[in-house]
Amino acid sequence: MIIAIDGPTASGKGTISKRIAAHFGLPHLDTGLLYRAVGRQTLLNGGDPDNAADALAAVDFPAELLEDPVLRNEATGSLASRASVHPAVRQALFERQRAFALQDGGAVLDGRDIGTVIAPDADVKLFITASVDARAQRRFKEMQERGASITLEEIAADLRRRDERDTNRKDAPLVAASDAYVIDTSQLGIEEAFAAALDAIAQAR
Ligand code: C5P
Repeated sequence: MIIAIDGPTASGKGTISKRIAAHFGLPHLDTGLLYRAVGRQTLLNGGDPDNAADALAAVDFPAELLEDPVLRNEATGSLASRASVHPAVRQALFERQRAFALQDGGAVLDGRDIGTVIAPDADVKLFITASVDARAQRRFKEMQERGASITLEEIAADLRRRDERDTNRKDAPLVAASDAYVIDTSQLGIEEAFAAALDAIAQAR
């Protein structure tokens, strides 16, 4: 069983994906992490993520980079969003994601284009979304817990910028597949969102 989970940043997609994978005993790939590693490696190489050649040169990042906590911060999320615009970068990361999806026994992948590009043949497609306000509030709470000094307004502005770039890019834009179950988590706690995802999976199978 291949489960494709897409959606914007801070929609709850990451948490739901981990829970779904654990529930079904399936391996899970957070594909955003691959783009984050490319964004980060581009900087480490002294390159510019807006430059296609610089970003492409960073797709051979060392595997250990995926473990680096710096990949999780907002600044790296923005670098990832810039690097992921380039078709050559997306192409270079395609096989790795596709192979993960096709492994024996199935897999859960989450990202922006899993249901549309990486696994259009997925058994179940979920599109997890939420309002900018709800997402900014969640991210703000997380950042406060980590002691980061950033305002709610700064977070909301960054989310909007990232949504805009991810949605309007030509190659593999952020969009729900026509056969995806859309779950809006704006008013849902994590348990309710997880239950809604399980319901959608039960219906799809
Ligand atoms: O999901 P996450 O916030 O970690 O993703 C970081 C960035 O990587 C996104 O804003 C998006 O631009 C890019 N991305 C992508 N395709 C994916 C996953 C992430 O373009 N499948």
